[in-house]
Amino acid sequence: MQTATPSRTALRVAMRRAAHQLYDARPLVLDDPIAVPILGQTYAEELRRTPTRPDRPWSVALRAFMVARSRYAEDNLARAVAGGVTQYVLLGAGLDTFAHRNPWPHLHVFEVDHPATQEWKRELLGESGLPAPERHSYIPVDFETQTLAAQLDAAGFDAAAPTFFSWLGVVPYLTHAAFRASIGFISARPAGTGVTLDYSQPRSALPPLERLALDSLASRVQQAGEPFQLFFTPAEIAHELAAFRAIEDLGSAQINARYFTERADSLRLMGAAGRLLSAWVEAPAQSGLS
Ligand SMILES: C[S@@+](CC[C@H](N)C(=O)[O-])C[C@H]1O[C@@H](n2cnc3c(N)ncnc32)[C@H](O)[C@@H]1O
Repeated sequence: MQTATPSRTALRVAMRRAAHQLYDARPLVLDDPIAVPILGQTYAEELRRTPTRPDRPWSVALRAFMVARSRYAEDNLARAVAGGVTQYVLLGAGLDTFAHRNPWPHLHVFEVDHPATQEWKRELLGESGLPAPERHSYIPVDFETQTLAAQLDAAGFDAAAPTFFSWLGVVPYLTHAAFRASIGFISARPAGTGVTLDYSQPRSALPPLERLALDSLASRVQQAGEPFQLFFTPAEIAHELAAFRAIEDLGSAQINARYFTERADSLRLMGAAGRLLSAWVEAPAQSGLS
């Protein structure tokens, strides 16, 4: 992404999470009472104009993917916390609001993001009047030029404690080297550490109609100054994550079955491009996974 400006894609994702609260049928897949207030007056009008139109199924499907990935990360975080994890690191946090909804008094939240995006988030939060979260630290990191280890260490992160990481909507924007550096850091954490991320399959792995949908999205993020540059097939990412155990890699059908059944609206995923993945340094004791 461009170094001097906050992420535009982070705003688009936050708009979709907010639109989910306002316009989608109940039950919500991601119940986030901060998703609308964090956007404040600055983006209120844009949010009112945010299309939720059922006649644009790929747009609905993109919103579904974005709320599902946050829900999936928070479901896995709950498992990690039940297994004793006391640190949660959001990599490329954008306008994620978990820190403001953290229900666990012993869980410290570290929000890592590109410096320009993080500064913009802090300004927005200041304008919104929302109270500052407790047990929370902001850590500016550019994954392309800085190491997670040094920046987290300076912020009081306990490298010896198992930690849960989320990395949502970030992997496709990275270089392969930056992805590997951060995955290497996570895989070197103690047993009980876990990560949830999403990734996109390459164009060549998709049928023609889905290639057009991916091309359209790729062109929009390119115009926003944040071009996609990293894609994996499931086999390729399994290879990248060889140091982890208990990898769960979900495609659209599995995500729909888990989060979008028996809905009164048409909110659901389409296509095969986007996938959700969780992996553990060692399977949490209570999970039954190995
Ligand atoms: C599509 S947004 C997703 C934000 C958030 N995870 C969410 O789900 O709402 C992409 C995020 O990745 C961050 N990002 C992209 N490239 C980065 C880099 N090189 N270093 C740090 N953060 C980066 C952006 O600042 C932005 O917050």
